[in-house]
Amino acid sequence: PHTVYMSRHGQSEYNKIGRIGGDSDITKDGQEYAKALGKYTFEVIQGNSEGLGKPVKCRLWTSSLRRTVQTARYIPRPVLHDKDGSTWKQMDGRRMHGLDEIFAGICDGMTYQEISERYPDEFVLRKENKLSYRYPRGESYLDVISRLDPLVQEIESYREPLLIVGHQGVLRLIYAYLVGRPREEAPSLSIPLNTVIKLDLLTEGVRETRTELLT
Ligand code: F6P
Repeated sequence: PHTVYMSRHGQSEYNKIGRIGGDSDITKDGQEYAKALGKYTFEVIQGNSEGLGKPVKCRLWTSSLRRTVQTARYIPRPVLHDKDGSTWKQMDGRRMHGLDEIFAGICDGMTYQEISERYPDEFVLRKENKLSYRYPRGESYLDVISRLDPLVQEIESYREPLLIVGHQGVLRLIYAYLVGRPREEAPSLSIPLNTVIKLDLLTEGVRETRTELLT
């Protein structure tokens, strides 16, 4: 596509209490963001605020997790294609969707504080090399890169605008790929909540616009 929009899900119950992973619902603030994202999609991505004829058809991707699906709830049709789970794979007995958040294995559902107390060595190892560090029975950023690979290829074949409602880790990687930042930098890139990142993929390079929808 010429334009890729990406957004993290609205604030989740786990975000609010500093826990990683899991599959929690979005909070009240998350709901507010979901509504704002619906309005943004209608007005900006689909072009209805300009009052010019037909709305633009876009594509919508979410992960399989409740927080992205709930965040996309108010996004109006027409949407050409919802990413539906065509990229499921088996991960330590769990089915994972290509766009699901990095899986923290034995640390899933913990706070960073809890990880540092319970698994201090792991905590240090991850700090030292966040890109290649693999959570025990979980994933590394490199693992996520390989499961994202077919999806990234697919992005390149689209002609319509694409909106990805995703997760911090996964969006860092897709963002780094699209703007051409080295993957070593990806795990520390800032992808804030409540913000739509618009990337216009132009022949002369990528133009980026960030719009905070809740202030
Ligand atoms: O805290 C939100 C979250 O999406 C977690 O689910 C995930 O483990 C984490 O961000 C990834 O960020 P980092 O790689 O900085 O821990």
